[in-house]
Amino acid sequence: MFQRASNLGSFAAYERLYTESVREPEVFWKRMAEEHLIWRRPFRNVIKWKAPHAQWFTGGILNVAENCLDRHIGTVRENQAAIIFEGEPGDVRTLTYLQLHSDVCRVAHVLDNLGVGKGDRVAIYLPMIPEAVVAMLACARVGAIHTVVFGGFSSDSLKDRINDCQAKLLITADGGWRRGRVVELKSAADKALAHTPSVQTVLVVKRAGNNVGMHAGRDVWWHEMLAGAPAIHRAKAFDSEHPLFILYTSGSTGKPKGVLHTSAGYLLGAKLSSHYVFDLRATDRYFCSADIGWITGHSYVVYGLMSNGATIFLYEGAPNHPEPDRFWQMVDRHALTILYTAPTAIRAFMRWGDEHVLRHKLTSLRLLGSVGEPINPEAWQWYYKLIGKNRCPIVDTWWQTETGSILITPLPGATPLKPGSATLPFFGIVPRVVDDQGREVAEGQDGKLVITRPWPSMLRTLWDDDERYARTYFGEYPRHPEWYLTGDGARRDKDGYFWIIGRIDDVLNISGHRIGTAEVESALGTHPAVAESAAVGKPDDLKGQALIVFVILKEGQTSSPELAEQLRAHVAREIGALARPDQVRFASGLPKTRSGKIMRRILKDIVAGKTVQGDVTTMEDVSVIAALQAGA
Ligand code: WTA
Repeated sequence: MFQRASNLGSFAAYERLYTESVREPEVFWKRMAEEHLIWRRPFRNVIKWKAPHAQWFTGGILNVAENCLDRHIGTVRENQAAIIFEGEPGDVRTLTYLQLHSDVCRVAHVLDNLGVGKGDRVAIYLPMIPEAVVAMLACARVGAIHTVVFGGFSSDSLKDRINDCQAKLLITADGGWRRGRVVELKSAADKALAHTPSVQTVLVVKRAGNNVGMHAGRDVWWHEMLAGAPAIHRAKAFDSEHPLFILYTSGSTGKPKGVLHTSAGYLLGAKLSSHYVFDLRATDRYFCSADIGWITGHSYVVYGLMSNGATIFLYEGAPNHPEPDRFWQMVDRHALTILYTAPTAIRAFMRWGDEHVLRHKLTSLRLLGSVGEPINPEAWQWYYKLIGKNRCPIVDTWWQTETGSILITPLPGATPLKPGSATLPFFGIVPRVVDDQGREVAEGQDGKLVITRPWPSMLRTLWDDDERYARTYFGEYPRHPEWYLTGDGARRDKDGYFWIIGRIDDVLNISGHRIGTAEVESALGTHPAVAESAAVGKPDDLKGQALIVFVILKEGQTSSPELAEQLRAHVAREIGALARPDQVRFASGLPKTRSGKIMRRILKDIVAGKTVQGDVTTMEDVSVIAALQAGA
């Protein structure tokens, strides 16, 4: 069923297109860029590549916002919903493509009038509301470079990001709703603004209605500025390589990295992958649960989806407010067809109990996606059965902030799935799994994942730190200076499928055996008492590293030395005696980033008895550290 109707149609079709894309990349990318993007002036070159710097589609000029909006105006799509929004309190708002276009044009005028234009940086610190999308597209329209800072970040993090890129304008809101309470964004922004001399103006969206102080001469209300602005805006066009946005992401050191993406190549990667990976149709209602402050929100809420003219569903609040079935309620209420979420969320849903899911029909869903970390087979099966009702394919999509778009993924209706594997490379992508010398490792062996050729949506540099860019992502293998280092470990099976193990620093070496933390966690996940776990290495004189696992039990389970023993035996049974944890530590919470990734470097410091070092600004709940140190 799915197969016959899908955009690609068959595995043979995938193989044909993939083969062309890697045999004749210039021919392939030229055709894709001409078919998928709208150009004001055609490009002259497909790629200029002098590692580590790539330039795609030079000579061409285009406007990214026009590619996302204007192309739909005057077509049947103009009256189709671009955004269906549901606020946490239950308010619903729909914006058609025409309405979204008008709002973006109005804000573009406001930016023009404020003197914000080509190359200026604009920080966006908003809840998950339609205005966040409008703000991003308005920046793109006038050639300003946006940097979206997740609304859950502290004022300190906001301050650092604004100062790093010297933003001239901040767009924020009075507040947003989260778990029934107002998160006061404007007051957090005010704290940051005391130390950000570059910011001249603050545009404030009225969302939650909480009281805010407006700083005369600096702060202006979004709705007041929009009221007088025309709904038509003539956009300028910019070079293919004009910077589109900076997105800060945590590196292995304390200072976040400002990943820089540019216009044409990024947009092409986002658009093409959205089309094939989500198999988009005009009738889809697509829900990506990632916040707009992450790369997933950039590529797979805004740029990739809107350039395809899709209807996106935006949700402002927490997945368990007022009850743990909020997502499933919304799926039924809005007849959502595609859900793209993260394994950590899936495990939370599992933990909250099946009854919250079973109360809802979920018949509208036709495709499920996963992103952000390896999805353990337990969670995969649960997602497939309970949410997809055994009829929706799951696309396990591997990519990074740096890659801009999905690089390794199944294509629904074409790629045979294997639970836990991100399967095969997307068009034009040539990944390899290599050892420390850069030699391809044997089938089934663990190695480092590298991407051997440039692709259009790759990052171009790190903002104001090109030296760190070159050092972090290239040059590990002297004979292959052009290989991009993903920092992930992987292996390839006999069918050529990729299995992502996790960050390389998450791979443990225990008595000379390599063990992926994700493998241990996935084994623990098959035990009925375990809700979630994290495995880390502790320096050990004898074994090199000892394996310590932190375990969160399911509701109703109690920790005991017997259970700890059972869990050790369970992992040994699942993987082999070499993976038997040396110690099981029960915990009530794990240190996570706000996007849900477990921060293993913090756990490593805790097990090693060290004080926790490095950047914790991306952490969701800092109090977890003290609890773990106290053995809670
Ligand atoms: C991990 C998120 C396994 C990986 C888009 C990568 C995954 C990091 C997957 C990037 C997946 C992402 N399977 N691991 N399907 N997707 N990862 O920059 O370790 O927030 O390097 O981008 O997440 O995280 P980032």
